[in-house]
Amino acid sequence: MIPLSLAQIAQITGGRLHGDAAHPVDAGALVSGEVVIDSRRVSAGGLFAAVAGERSDGHDFAAAAVAAGATAVLATRPVPAPSVLVADVPGALAALARFVVDALPSVRVAGITGSSGKTSTKDLAAQLVERLGPTIAPVGSYNNEFGHPLTVLRADASTRYLVLELSARGVGHIAQLCRIAPPRYGVVLNVGHAHAGEFGGLDQVARAKGELVEALPPDGVAILNADDPRVLAMAARTQARIVTFGVQDPDASVRAADVRLDDLGRPSFTLLTPEGFAPVTLRLHGAHNVPNALAAAALAGELGLGLAGIADGLSTAVARSRWRMEVHRRADGVTVINDAYNANPESVRAAIDALAHLARDGRGFAVLGHMAELGDTSRTSHEDIGEFAARVSASSGSGLAGLIAVGEEAAPLLAGARRVRSWPGEALAVPDGEAALDVLANRLKPGDVVLVKASRAAGLESVAADLLREADR
Ligand SMILES: Nc1ncnc2c1ncn2[C@@H]1O[C@H](COP(=O)(O)OP(=O)(O)OP(=O)(O)O)[C@@H](O)[C@H]1O
Ligand SMILES: [Mg+2]
Repeated sequence: MIPLSLAQIAQITGGRLHGDAAHPVDAGALVSGEVVIDSRRVSAGGLFAAVAGERSDGHDFAAAAVAAGATAVLATRPVPAPSVLVADVPGALAALARFVVDALPSVRVAGITGSSGKTSTKDLAAQLVERLGPTIAPVGSYNNEFGHPLTVLRADASTRYLVLELSARGVGHIAQLCRIAPPRYGVVLNVGHAHAGEFGGLDQVARAKGELVEALPPDGVAILNADDPRVLAMAARTQARIVTFGVQDPDASVRAADVRLDDLGRPSFTLLTPEGFAPVTLRLHGAHNVPNALAAAALAGELGLGLAGIADGLSTAVARSRWRMEVHRRADGVTVINDAYNANPESVRAAIDALAHLARDGRGFAVLGHMAELGDTSRTSHEDIGEFAARVSASSGSGLAGLIAVGEEAAPLLAGARRVRSWPGEALAVPDGEAALDVLANRLKPGDVVLVKASRAAGLESVAADLLREADR
């Protein structure tokens, strides 16, 4: 971060300096290292922000953070360490982040939002934009009231680009994140059912995601998915220039033609931009990464990266964040797709399509946990996904040999699958991941493909990890 004294930090956050005889506070002491909320990640000269979580309270680690090199602690109550006391830590982080952005006017800020694919797209976009200059982008899915300001605070005088991921669980959240780091470029990927229960329906989701384009200045650029009508309609909510991307819409400014998937589901396509066309082969798996790649290409193009750099950058970009469509082939010839990071109806459909492709000449197994936060539509959404999985299998002739629903909330998947009478696969309910592993152990043969997917709360990534260990036994 740009160096700030404790006195400046107190002024920016509306806080007051606090110390005692054993832990004196020096108003002129400089914070120049990272601002963190995890005391194990404190670096010399950094600032430790104490946050009370469900399991532990950061205030208890204040002394340890300073012993590890932090200049001071941002806290809401006195701690045995030099500190800046504030009423509200996220609010203080937001104020600090905004100060840093305002102090670095040449940094170009881009925000990415949508229901699915924010992290995947952010990781692709960052790998393109890094070709233009020093870029700060969040690690993983650091996109909320803590992760967002902490990411922004990593910027310093050498930074040229901020590529941010903005998430919302309700109306007003994205507007708030945009006040922390006002974006000039805004990418909206899609409007889907992620957290739809909390929002109260897709129109509310669209209202919330569109806050990103509303925050853009008239000389900004809104990059919209032309294939998603709710996203395209956001063009009316901004004065910024509109740039569109899409796989289906022939009028989109950035498009993909001739999309093909290789054996492991990695897409190749011809990238079409106003500048011309170029071949791209992604290292990521699943056709759903094509729109993500187009969004990243459109953003990088607006920031000044040429077509050759974009095509090469997309073709060399790797998955930086784990548990999203990771494809591993075991020594015994079983393929495991670990997509256990999270789940909502759109991302489960995307994963089932990928499974159907990988298992097109063999047998596929889908180990699915529940999709959380769908509200009243939870049961029918699970049934519909089960039906979708069975239908994809029945119609493509690719074998979904087994659908394994993990946990009670996922059980309606099976009722949905059984609606498709022409589907010859097995539908099994199991209580937990262990039981899913037992079921698979009796069934898996070389050549089979297993998809593991659920909402974060289900923690099914351990099933994927165990499946991969199995091969070493
Ligand atoms: N464009 C897309 N359409 C549907 N599913 C997608 C798309 N892009 C990614 N996914 C899938 O959605 C899941 C989450 O991906 P990713 O982490 O990129 O999304 P996110 O929007 O950042 O999620 P979160 O809200 O948890 O931050 C993964 O299973 C991924 O394969
Ligand atoms: Mg994310």
